[in-house]
Amino acid sequence: MSAAKKRVAVLISGRGSNMAALIEASKAPDYPAEIVLVVSNKADAAGLASASAQGIKTAVVDHRDFAHRETFDAEIDRLLKSYRIDMVCLAGFMRLLTPDFVAGWRDRMINIHPSLLPAFKGLHTHRRALEAGVKLAGCTVHFVRSDMDDGPIIIQAAVPVLDTDTEDALSARILAAEHQIYPRALELVSAGKVQVRNERVIRLDAKAAEDTGVLMCDGGV
Ligand code: GAR
Repeated sequence: MSAAKKRVAVLISGRGSNMAALIEASKAPDYPAEIVLVVSNKADAAGLASASAQGIKTAVVDHRDFAHRETFDAEIDRLLKSYRIDMVCLAGFMRLLTPDFVAGWRDRMINIHPSLLPAFKGLHTHRRALEAGVKLAGCTVHFVRSDMDDGPIIIQAAVPVLDTDTEDALSARILAAEHQIYPRALELVSAGKVQVRNERVIRLDAKAAEDTGVLMCDGGV
């Protein structure tokens, strides 16, 4: 008998295209995770409607209703526990989480960021990559630690930067790669195929030698 699927909550603040990619991937019968809850800190996040349309439970926890980060995080934690959540995916969730919350979900919470971390943490990632003149950009899925966009790296996708790129063009090319690696990373973690050792992610299964955790995207150059 196969192991029970991990119960996953996705935390969003906006569009939710990565959330949608996770929901889509989780429809495969052998996918080791199911998305049971989507939580947003913004009531008008577009991702809420698309999750509801797929029959997934949604909740809004508006950070403005809380005087302190600790009480906001405690409410999210209560909600996650009430749904018996095993794993949390941050998908464009634009709130810093408190160290206590992060510690409580250590190695059970992952995030996606549109850069090859540790480069370009934080906001305006694509603009800063263009300004820096890097030739290779990309995205990263990592376990969450209390510093922003920090933690052991599970998968990265490398995406070329073209001379003609605008912020929008680069961001669209990276987003397409995000939609590939986030479902793959959640699959690896949920199936117990990776483990964090000394703050590095190690592949445990036999495929480790051929599957390096790197995706090279062809930008046509
Ligand atoms: C994505 O590009 C994600 O990598 C980024 O926000 C966007 C959310 O889009 N996250 C961060 O910058 C985290 N530091 P989505 O709502 O369509 O998934």
